[in-house]
Amino acid sequence: MKLRTIDNLDVRGKYVLLRDDFNVQIVDGKITDAFRIEQSMPTINALKNAGARIAIVAHLGRPKGTRNMEYTLKPVAEYMGVPLIPDCLDKSFLSDMKDGDVVLLENVRFYSGEEENDSEFAKKLADGFDLFVNDAFAVSHRAHASTVGVTEFLPSYAGKLLASEIEQLSAVMENPARPLVAIVAGSKVSTKIGVLKALARLADKLIIGGALGTTFDYATGAHVGNSLYEPDQKDTALEIMEYARANNCEVFIPLDKGVGPEFSRDATRVDKTFDEITDDDVILDAGALTTARDVDVIKSAATVIWNGTVGMAEWMPTWSVGSFALARAIAEETRNGKMKSIVGGGDTVAALEACGVKDDISYVSTGGGAFLEFIEGRDLPGISALAE
Ligand code: 3PG
Repeated sequence: MKLRTIDNLDVRGKYVLLRDDFNVQIVDGKITDAFRIEQSMPTINALKNAGARIAIVAHLGRPKGTRNMEYTLKPVAEYMGVPLIPDCLDKSFLSDMKDGDVVLLENVRFYSGEEENDSEFAKKLADGFDLFVNDAFAVSHRAHASTVGVTEFLPSYAGKLLASEIEQLSAVMENPARPLVAIVAGSKVSTKIGVLKALARLADKLIIGGALGTTFDYATGAHVGNSLYEPDQKDTALEIMEYARANNCEVFIPLDKGVGPEFSRDATRVDKTFDEITDDDVILDAGALTTARDVDVIKSAATVIWNGTVGMAEWMPTWSVGSFALARAIAEETRNGKMKSIVGGGDTVAALEACGVKDDISYVSTGGGAFLEFIEGRDLPGISALAE
C-alpha cells in the first residue's frame, strides 16, 4: 500500500491537525515511560521546522466519552512544554498561532463521538485545519474520528513514525532472514489467536510463553496448579499447535515454571516441572529449564519477533528472570550482528527498558494491539485511510 507522506509537502503557515499516540503510562501525574512521545518528535519537529501551525490530537486511557480528569493529557503537555487546549473542539486558539507553534488538544476520548467515529464530531474536529497528519501507528487499528473520520474532511498524510513502523514491520513480514523465531507470550490465548496463526505460517520456530504458554501446557495434559490460564481455550491451543505442525513451524511450550505459594511479588520462588507443581502453586515466571531452552532457540535465529513477557516481569527481580534472560539474549545476538530483532507491546518494551537493552534491539515498535494486528496481516483502518 502506497501512503501519502509529509515528504516534500509545503506546510508553511498551514494549520495541521496531527494525530499522535500519547497513550503513555502516568503514575501520580508523572510519565513513567515517554517512548511513544519521543518517537513522535521527529514528525513534530519536521512540521515545526517547516513552519506549520500544529495542533496535536491524542487520547489517554479509556474515559468512555466523559470528561474524566483522571485521563487529562496535562502531564504530556507539561513533559513536552507545549500549551494544553482544554477542549479539543474549541478552535479559538487558532487565530493566535504563529508559524512553528505547537499545541496539544485535551483528550479526544472525552467525547463519545471519537470512538463512535461520528461524522459530525470528525467534521468539528477537522474544522479550521488545512491538513491532517496521522503519526499514531499505535492506535491505527481503531476506526475512530481522529484516525479515520477526519480524513473525509482534510487532505491526509502519514507522519514519519507511522511510515517507518509500516516499512520496518513490512520488511520483516515480507522477506525475513531465516531461521525466523517468533516469541508470543502474555496472558490470553483468546486475544492472540490471529497472531499465533499468522506467526505459525511465517516463522520457522514459535516459542509460546507466559500465562498463554501455561494454557498450552494445560491443553497437552500438564498440571498447572492455581495459576492464570484459560481452560476454555484448550481446543484452540491444540488446534494452533496442529496448525503450526502443518506449516512446518516447530512449537516450543514451557517445560517448567517459576512458582510461588500466592499471586504476589513477594512470594518465595521455586522452579518446578509440571510433574512437581501442586494444586496450591501459582505460576509467576518461566522456569530455568524453559529459559535455557528458549535462549538456545533464540541463538539459532537470524530474525526474532517478540511480543509478550513470559512472567510477571514488572515484579523485579524475582519474577522478571525469564523475561530478562530472553531480552538479554536477543539484545546480545543483535549487538553481535547475528540477528535482526523486532519487539512490540507495552510490557515487552518496558522489560527491555528495565534491563537496559532497548537500544540494542533492531526495531522497537510503539504499537501494542496495532503491532499484533499488523503482524496478523489485518487491515488497519487508520492506515488504509491514508492510501494514495
Ligand atoms: C494502545 O495503547 O495500544 C493504543 O493507544 C490503543 O489504545 P486502546 O486499546 O485503548 O484503543
